[in-house]
Amino acid sequence: MAEMIRKSSVDEIVSHWILAGSCILLMITGYAFLFHIESIGSVLGGFNTMKTVHNWLGVVFVLSLLYSMRHYLRDALEYDADDMQWFKVAGGYLSHKVKVPPMGKYNPGQKLYYLVILVFGIAIAISGFGIWFMKDNMTVMLISHLVHNIAFCVFVIAVPVHIYLGTVANPGTFKIMVSGTMPLSEAKKKHPKWIKSVGKV
Ligand code: HEM
Repeated sequence: MAEMIRKSSVDEIVSHWILAGSCILLMITGYAFLFHIESIGSVLGGFNTMKTVHNWLGVVFVLSLLYSMRHYLRDALEYDADDMQWFKVAGGYLSHKVKVPPMGKYNPGQKLYYLVILVFGIAIAISGFGIWFMKDNMTVMLISHLVHNIAFCVFVIAVPVHIYLGTVANPGTFKIMVSGTMPLSEAKKKHPKWIKSVGKV
């Protein structure tokens, strides 16, 4: 059997799925509010119940988002010369002829994705609490709705791209978010600088 290396801790896997599950349910219920989709509302016992579910899922989402900072924030804020080169060749996604530079634990696309989710996640949460608790303040309501909708648009684009890249576009990646491990041989090819930093070469 191939030798495996741990890339994600159990803690990271559990919190990823709480973050992902709450985020996807929030997107579905948010979409139902925006376009008044009765069928989705009725699954949850009507729009009033759906609103309560949506609000409390927001609490779960923001807590798991803040918790995720301990897993990803440090990596997501560090970009070296290879990362800059990765941007120049678009990660090799647009052509097989370009040379993709050696990567660390996460590529710069993943790091930027995390920062986008963090910034817009905090924005969507603060504006969500504004809508929930500041009903009497017209200005707060207007600004909160605007911010909430803009952040929603960002999520509608970013999350499906992330799911696509974490599944069909990069076979084997999904297993990392289930078992937490990946084959060492594969990790040496895809994340040589990370493997070096953990002394596995
Ligand atoms: C069913 C949907 C999802 C799938 C299949 C999925 C898959 C994955 C996979 C495979 C990884 C590990 C990548 C690696 O270690 O190389 C990952 C990481 C991550 N996921 Fe997800 N994910 C999903 C939903 C979400 C959602 C909804 C969010 C955020 C709201 C999210 C946020 C993250 C973050 C922040 C990371 C770490 C950084 C990164 O790899 O980009 N995921 N996901």
